[in-house]
Amino acid sequence: MPHVIPYQGSKRLLAPAILAVLRERLAGQPVRRLYEPFAGSAAMTLAAAHAQRADQHVVADSYGPIVLLWRQIVEAPQLVAEGYRRVWQAGDYDAVRQAFRRDPTPEDLLYLLTRCVKAAVRFNRRGEFNQAADKRRRGTHPDRMAALIAAAAELLRGRTEFRIGDALETTCDATAGDVAYLDPPWHGTTVGNDNRYHAGYTRAQLLTLIDALHSRGVLVLLSYDGKRAGQDFAQMLPDSLRRLDLPAMRSAQATLLGRAEWTTESLYVTDTLRQ
Ligand SMILES: C[S@@+](CC[C@H](N)C(=O)[O-])C[C@H]1O[C@@H](n2cnc3c(N)ncnc32)[C@H](O)[C@@H]1O
Repeated sequence: MPHVIPYQGSKRLLAPAILAVLRERLAGQPVRRLYEPFAGSAAMTLAAAHAQRADQHVVADSYGPIVLLWRQIVEAPQLVAEGYRRVWQAGDYDAVRQAFRRDPTPEDLLYLLTRCVKAAVRFNRRGEFNQAADKRRRGTHPDRMAALIAAAAELLRGRTEFRIGDALETTCDATAGDVAYLDPPWHGTTVGNDNRYHAGYTRAQLLTLIDALHSRGVLVLLSYDGKRAGQDFAQMLPDSLRRLDLPAMRSAQATLLGRAEWTTESLYVTDTLRQ
């Protein structure tokens, strides 16, 4: 699987388990469009495209630069690979961060994400990308990055649409036969001090989104909470969703990105679907 964009909260390792749940839930029914409205590194889209699970894909996020990066990866893979090589070879993280604040180009965002602390998009009060470089990360070698970009482009070309906006808008044309995989910023990163994404997402917003999707017969898969060391972070969600506990995946990358503490991750799946 071409894991192109390192991204805090990526579902790369969990995606195969989520896909297995989807396969069982659908019992052989095809998926017309798979929507990933909180796409980030689009781990589920890549896994589903690789498994030929859906005819069409919609990759969306309210953080515009990540969507523009995805569009460029798929529509102009060589351009973004060459741009990445240029900034990687120059190797000046601070200069790239400055340039990105003035003009957020796809190759600069890709480089910043491969080099920054926890692969996390963080902002200062003025809304400028603010994350520092992680001295342990050199950034994916450009040859390897070019191969990953080419493989991802091959998987998604001709069957993927890219949208920037709030999840409620970017999924507004989803209907019966479509599936939405939701991975919103977790509640704990929306309230309190840990505002790690460019925007939080409240429980009320999530309930409205689930309701809208269910009212149009869209099957929902939702990653929302998990358990760690005896604590359960179960959230109040509607009865229309059934909760499954998936074993959380560990990797050296996950440890580096600060995600190693989870023991299970919850997946909520639409129980009965209105036809
Ligand atoms: C947990 S991350 C998703 C990670 C993704 N599943 C992956 O594999 O990389 C949450 C994403 O939601 C985006 N986001 C925040 N608020 C949003 C909103 N209202 N609508 C759409 N996307 C939003 C953030 O920019 C971030 O990329």
